[in-house]
Amino acid sequence: QGNASASAGKTKAASCAGCHGEDGNSTMPAFPKLAGQHQTYLVKQLQAFKSGARLAPMMAPLAAGLDDQAIQEIASYYAGNKISTNPAPKLPASDDDDAPAKTPEQEKAALEALITQGSDLYRNGNISREVSACVACHGPYAEGNKPASFPSLHSQHADYLIKSLTDFKTGARSNNRENMMHMIATKMTDEDIKAVAYYISTM
Ligand code: HEM
Ligand code: HEM
Repeated sequence: QGNASASAGKTKAASCAGCHGEDGNSTMPAFPKLAGQHQTYLVKQLQAFKSGARLAPMMAPLAAGLDDQAIQEIASYYAGNKISTNPAPKLPASDDDDAPAKTPEQEKAALEALITQGSDLYRNGNISREVSACVACHGPYAEGNKPASFPSLHSQHADYLIKSLTDFKTGARSNNRENMMHMIATKMTDEDIKAVAYYISTM
């Protein structure tokens, strides 16, 4: 049953490939990878795009065209694929035009410091600012929690992770205005978001 559903899903996902990649491993950092994501989470998001509960202008018209069966099948297809790992991250260019250019050694040190900061936040949270530890829900390998529908995060694009955390924070990711990710993200600084996103993208 699972395989028949996934193979029907593969056909129905043809129009998604341009943005999410043929097997759900998008190569463009603004488009989330879907490969290996939990089926229940994918279904929930597609239903949310369809109902308008999660506002996303690119996804809304596409989700509107999918019936419940197509949503299940497409989710089953992506869930059965394996997520690809990312190439080694690079520090984004500094916003500060006057900042002196970094040597390759300084770049490497700054990137390592950022990822260490992200790893600390992921595992321990931040007690003084009351940021919950991500590991509690998203797991030691950021594999998520299948029965609870907590999404897998590992190897996701850093740019997409930064966008989703920022959207939870501002409430732009609207189906979560009241929920835990909104509560957590509002306590995070932009630096926290960047650090944890970079760390997760390397997992
Ligand atoms: C997000 C599925 C086509 C652009 C998502 C998500 C799913 C999904 C499940 C949520 C991922 C997550 O929360 O981790 C699909 C399916 C498609 C499709 C089944 C085909 C029917 C496309 C196309 C585009 C696109 C063609 C580009 C024009 C995006 C973007 C997001 C997204 C930008 C992130 C939205 C946000 O920031 O909240 N898609 N997608 N998708 N998709 Fe698609
Ligand atoms: C979703 C990151 C802590 C529960 C997400 C997403 C990200 C994320 C990036 C969106 C994934 C996607 O769009 O594919 C983080 C980080 C955390 C953290 C960096 C720590 C700072 C937690 C905790 C919980 C939790 C502690 C549980 C209490 C959830 C749930 C969703 C989610 C339920 C899905 C929301 C939805 O259905 O749209 N998280 N998370 N997260 N997270 Fe977290």
